[in-house]
Amino acid sequence: MKLRNLILASYAFALILVMTIVFFSVKYMIFQTEIAYIVSLIMLVACTIAFFFSYLLFLPTLRSITKLSKHSNQLARGHFEPIANIRSPKELAELARDFNYMTERLAESFAQIKKSEDEKNTMISQLSHDIQTPITSIKSQIDAIMDDMVSGDEKLLYLESIQNQAMRLSQLSTELLDLTVTQERKKQKPTSKKVWIDKTLVAALNSFQVQIKLEDRPIEIDLDDEVLFVCSDEEGVNRIFYNLIANALKYSPPGTPIKVKGKSTGDVIQISIQDFGIGISEEEQTHIFERLYRVDKSRNQKYGGTGLGLYISQEIVKTLGGNIEVESSLGHGSTFTVNLPIKH
Ligand SMILES: Nc1ncnc2c1ncn2[C@@H]1O[C@H](COP(=O)(O)OP(=O)(O)OP(=O)(O)O)[C@@H](O)[C@H]1O
Ligand SMILES: [Mg+2]
Repeated sequence: MKLRNLILASYAFALILVMTIVFFSVKYMIFQTEIAYIVSLIMLVACTIAFFFSYLLFLPTLRSITKLSKHSNQLARGHFEPIANIRSPKELAELARDFNYMTERLAESFAQIKKSEDEKNTMISQLSHDIQTPITSIKSQIDAIMDDMVSGDEKLLYLESIQNQAMRLSQLSTELLDLTVTQERKKQKPTSKKVWIDKTLVAALNSFQVQIKLEDRPIEIDLDDEVLFVCSDEEGVNRIFYNLIANALKYSPPGTPIKVKGKSTGDVIQISIQDFGIGISEEEQTHIFERLYRVDKSRNQKYGGTGLGLYISQEIVKTLGGNIEVESSLGHGSTFTVNLPIKH
């Protein structure tokens, strides 16, 4: 029953009670009939007026209760709006305060859950993306061995490279398992250690050595003497180089060179990877680092890919305190430059 009807019922009950008493008083001649009429009339008028006054007094309470109920419904639907302007009655004002506190805490917890869910999803898509590179590399190296394209001496080199890629795959799948099975992201900060630029670049290029050989690609590496190492996260730097070299090879035709240059500007090391391929228009250059963005879908059907490589590289380089720049012109090629602080 609604509160308004409850008030009405209580006054109706009081009226019926008085009328019954008056009726029996007349019956046993305690009252005269005229007096009974007057008393009844006075009671009726008094109860009606009292009802309206009580109703007016209860109106703020009724409004507060309606507000609380509306906000509870909204909360159930995931809208974390606080309740404003409930001052009376005191008990409801306290309830509203508690409700607001609960809403605030719930909003915080939900934001936290969503953030860690987003982080987890990003990590899973990044790891799934990175697993592709060693798989492709292993496949092409095994194909080359099976097709007898590798001489006896080179075979050992290829097998070593396959072993390295397999180890990398196992490392990536462990990370993926951590995320999907234990539902926990590795909380520890990436370890900062000396990452030798030449060694890391050669390791990244080695992953593509079969493709480089099959496509007859000249690889030019030109590192200034000061370009030695950065104190950074080795795995992160690796992933950036892998992704940029993969793109340079993917978006330039066989036979064209890939140039890797390195220079140092005091406390920053600049590594640029240049290709002489299809290039990227100026307008597209502003979007290529976005998640899942791929330039002109029809053009890209030919190349395959998910549009994650540059996004991942950009995210990693940001955590390492650096940035990636692009210079490109359509039909002539692109240069991606990674700026990494020597000490992070
Ligand atoms: N060196 C390059 N030359 C020309 N276009 C490039 C180059 N690098 C990136 N792009 C363009 O930028 C887009 C985004 O690159 P990104 O590496 O993020 O994704 P992808 O290569 O399409 O897929 P994947 O997730 O497998 O790396 C690509 O689709 C491509 O069109
Ligand atoms: Mg890519």
